[in-house]
This record gives sequence, C-alpha cells and structure tokens, in this order.
Amino acid sequence: MSTYSIALIGGDGIGPEILREGKKVMDAAAEVAGITWQWKEYPYGAEHWLKYRKGEPTLMREEEMAELGKHDAIYFGSVGDPRVPESVEQAGALLWMRFYFDQYINLRPAKLLRGVESPLKGKKPHDINIYMIRENSEDFYIGLGARFTGNKSSETMELKRKLYKARFKVDVDVEPAGDFAYQIGVVTEKASERVLRYGFELAKKKKMTRVTVVHKANVLTKVYGLWIEKAEQVAKDYPGIGLDFAIADATTMWLVRRPEHFQVIVAPNLFGDILSDLAAATVGGLGFAPGGNINPDRKAGVSMFEPISGSAPKYKGLNKANPIAQILAGKLMLEHLGEDRAAELVEQATEDILEAGKVRTFDIGGTSTCSDMGDAIAERLLQLKR
Ligand code: IPM
Ligand code: MN
Repeated sequence: MSTYSIALIGGDGIGPEILREGKKVMDAAAEVAGITWQWKEYPYGAEHWLKYRKGEPTLMREEEMAELGKHDAIYFGSVGDPRVPESVEQAGALLWMRFYFDQYINLRPAKLLRGVESPLKGKKPHDINIYMIRENSEDFYIGLGARFTGNKSSETMELKRKLYKARFKVDVDVEPAGDFAYQIGVVTEKASERVLRYGFELAKKKKMTRVTVVHKANVLTKVYGLWIEKAEQVAKDYPGIGLDFAIADATTMWLVRRPEHFQVIVAPNLFGDILSDLAAATVGGLGFAPGGNINPDRKAGVSMFEPISGSAPKYKGLNKANPIAQILAGKLMLEHLGEDRAAELVEQATEDILEAGKVRTFDIGGTSTCSDMGDAIAERLLQLKR
C-alpha cells in the first residue's frame, strides 16, 4: 500500500475552506485507491506573514521551502490578501515555488463537465476538453528588467535556473531623458523542448491527435522564433500527432468560436497565463479551473497543485466558494502520483453530483455551501468504490 506525504497550505481568503473540501475528497479517494495520505499542514499565508515575517520579501524562508520539497506533493489553496504586498505572495511564494522546484509544466485542463453550462451557446458536456500546458519557468516571467528616470541606466542581472545560469549586462542611453522601463523575456532551447515534449507525450497518453503551439513569432521574432523552431523539431518524433501553430491573439478568438478544435495546447508562460483564464471561463469559470505546477521528475522537484482562481478575499470564511477547482487539482495530484484510477473516479464523482443538480454552489446558480459540495462529492466517490 502506497503512502504519500503531502504538504497542505491553505493560504488566504477562501484557500483554507476550499482546501478543507479538497482534502475531504482526497481522503475518500485514498479509500478508493487503497492508499494512505500523510498530511502535514503549513501556516504560510497573510496572517502568518503579518505576525511573524512582516517586512520580509517572501512568504516562506529558504529552509522552509527546502522542507516543502521533501514531500511527495504540495496541495495548495490560494494566496492573496490586501494587507500583504503582492510581491510577497506572488514573486515571494507562487513564482518562487515554480522556479525553486523547477515546476516547469503548468498543466491547466479545461473540460466542460456534465451538469455545467458553458457561456458559449450550444456546447454539450466534453465538447470542450482542452489540456492547456503553460511553460512555467521562463518567457516574460523571469522578473528581469529595470525602470529608471533620466537618460542612462546600467544593470547587471542574473537568471538562475536548474537548467542554466545567465547574466545580462544592459546599458541604456536614452535621449531625451524621461521615465523608462524595459523587461526581458527569455526562451531557451532546453526549456522549450521539455515542455513541448511533455505536450506531445500527454497527447499520446490521452489519445489525442493534435498539439496546438501558441506563439507570436510574427512580432516577437527572437523569442518565439526559437520556440516554434523547437516545436517543429519535437513534433518530428510524434508522426501520429498533428502540430498546429496558433498565433496568440487569434487563439483567444478561436477558443471562443470553436473550442472543440483544441486538444492539447502548449503556450509560453505569459500567453498561457491569459489563455488559461479564458479557457476556464468557457467551462463554467474559475470555480472549475484546476492547475498543476509540475516537475515531471518527482525526484528532481516537488510539484504543487492548486485551483487557479486566487483567494477571492470577499468570500473568505463564508463557506460559499465552489471547491470543485480545488478538488480537481487533487485529481491532477493523484495522476501525478500515478493513481490514475482514483483520479478518474474523482472526476466521475464530481460530474455525477453536478449532473444530479441537487448540490450547487452560488456560482452555478445554487445555494449549497462549499462544504455541502465537498460532502456530496466525497460521499459519491465512496459509492463508486462499491
Ligand atoms: C496564475 C496567477 C499568477 C501568474 C500570479 C498570481 C503571479 O495569475 O497562477 O495564473 O501570473 O502566474
Ligand atoms: Mn493567471
């Protein structure tokens, strides 16, 4: 019997309440799969920072990150609180985890489940079934750049990744003087190849026939020029799977007009951020949008599973939020751990409850609570076991 040690971080806003429901369903999944969870809760979030860490640039300390890395996975609620600087909870927690553990895949599936209505007219369950894969380690997310006022700037900047180290020395002379800002985007051969390959492998595993690679190589010719070249190379190893290029702006239009076209999408970091929210909207909203920040090599870095919704502070403590994104993030965690059957049953139980229609949270027109939804799905999951 497998035992998995999981770090639980509820975080801020609705995070702790939706995570509680996610854990409830994962406990039911453990019974179904015959596995054991070893949960360990961590207090990282706004309250903890305000009480013990105020003034520090990150939410956790380095040794605490290292400890998180010892678990088999991190099951994460959400962070974001108006009392804490955004940079602490974003660059100092979320982005830090992605880079520190080299979680280079951001898997954000968007599937229209039974019992959920799409805002797009006439879509039936599973008409929309997209594996959105966002590159999670570089592009315009590396945080390098400068802002200055005047006509001169000189910066030396370091980029440290597991795959490489790079140093930038940027001198700017500008006429006439004024406020000036620039930001660097990086695309490398190795980081592109690994995420593109993951996309093709996932297509193969899920028996899909097309991988759409998003870019904007017509304008950002350097970074995305390299990106599409790597896509062409990787695609050669997968003769049965079509390579489909899509320019980022047109992709937003096609996601609305003909989402059925998309099977696996691989997008650079920034476009992937935008497109994953859009894709989520087509399948019922952020309450249905799970995400995995994944390092496929479990020994090389721990992976983190979260709803992509954010902390929704105005619903905090009301037991009102839809926990399904968190529950489906648990499904992704099960898949990552190799517990595919349990993962499937979690989705099936969720769909059964949604289709039955008795338990519905406010975002889908009901009055059920967050915990009603968790209870119903956990109970259904246990029935499916029998
Ligand atoms: C997401 C979020 C983050 C991102 C923010 C909070 C840093 O929008 O996970 O999609 O931009 O990646
Ligand atoms: Mn986002």
